[in-house]
Amino acid sequence: MFCLMDMTDDFSFAPDFAAARAFFQARDDYQPTPVTTLKGLGGCAVLAKDETNRLGLGAFKALGAPYAVARILDAKWQAQTGEALLPEAQISPQAQAFIAAQTFVCASAGNHGIGVAAGARAAGAKARIHLADTVPESFADRLRAIGASVVRSGAIYEDSVAAATKDADQAGDILLADGTWPGYTVYPKWVMEGYCVIPEELRETFEASGQWPTHVYLQAGVGGLAAAMAHMIRLNWTEQPELIVVEPVSAACLQASHLAGKPSRGEGPESIMGRLDCKDPSIVAWSVLERCDVRYATLTEAEGIGASEQVTSLGIPTTPSGAAGFGALMQADAKLLQDASFRPLVVISERPA
Ligand SMILES: Cc1ncc(COP(=O)(O)O)c(C=O)c1O
Repeated sequence: MFCLMDMTDDFSFAPDFAAARAFFQARDDYQPTPVTTLKGLGGCAVLAKDETNRLGLGAFKALGAPYAVARILDAKWQAQTGEALLPEAQISPQAQAFIAAQTFVCASAGNHGIGVAAGARAAGAKARIHLADTVPESFADRLRAIGASVVRSGAIYEDSVAAATKDADQAGDILLADGTWPGYTVYPKWVMEGYCVIPEELRETFEASGQWPTHVYLQAGVGGLAAAMAHMIRLNWTEQPELIVVEPVSAACLQASHLAGKPSRGEGPESIMGRLDCKDPSIVAWSVLERCDVRYATLTEAEGIGASEQVTSLGIPTTPSGAAGFGALMQADAKLLQDASFRPLVVISERPA
């Protein structure tokens, strides 16, 4: 397994969010995703950042791995030649051959794998994605359509993470996970750096409108999205909202870690919120969240399904994973929902397969 600079356990997070934004702004297909207002919870107007069509890949994860792939290739090429990797149009045959020889490996609950596959294909590299049995075949089909090879690995997500790690190690390929663990933090931080585009777009929207949200609901799997959002909101939003991290009851690993004061498993049966069904937290994400003054909420399976039906009926087709933040909001008491100063924001994080 190749991993630059990952000699230490560095759980800090100081993203170069301007570089991530510039990377996407240079692409023809980039545009900020919309913020719409959903009206369906009593008198409450809910701001919804709609990530269901991000860069044509169907989820916010299109911001993470594609950016990390480009950064990794550039870092590897610089380590080898001392030169930066040039944009595609000016790239040398040597650099092209170097990229074509690189293979990215990861495990995925679905969307991260699509990001890795799309990033590798855009750059001219290869991708091999490990999926647990719990990941729908529709994701495998989408991955193959983007040119990735798919390996079915184990019963649950954590099995596929172990398989991908072993595979990359044995093949000498590049492991690009979205979770972090002791000894492996650098590349997933770059994935999280890509997600920082979302809170930056939101900051610009709210600076223009002056209507800052009072509460932000962030659904979490390993915690990369929630941590990137929370970090950026605390860093540079003018008005500070309450932050609520939302997990399935059966995979509440970040809440368990918070309560235990150390990375801890969230035990439970398989969840219908498949993309959030991560039993182990990213240790970087967990340590970021510990510094960001967040509170935690959990969703039952029925609440997850109810949330996806409600958000879909309000005009944004999504899944229980994609609507989980909205689901936590549905738990709020009627008094809060009717309070005119309550201005919640949710992220609708994926479209249905
Ligand atoms: C649609 C969707 N929402 C939320 C998440 C949670 O993101 P993270 O694992 O970074 O916490 C994922 C992760 O795969 C996802 O695919």
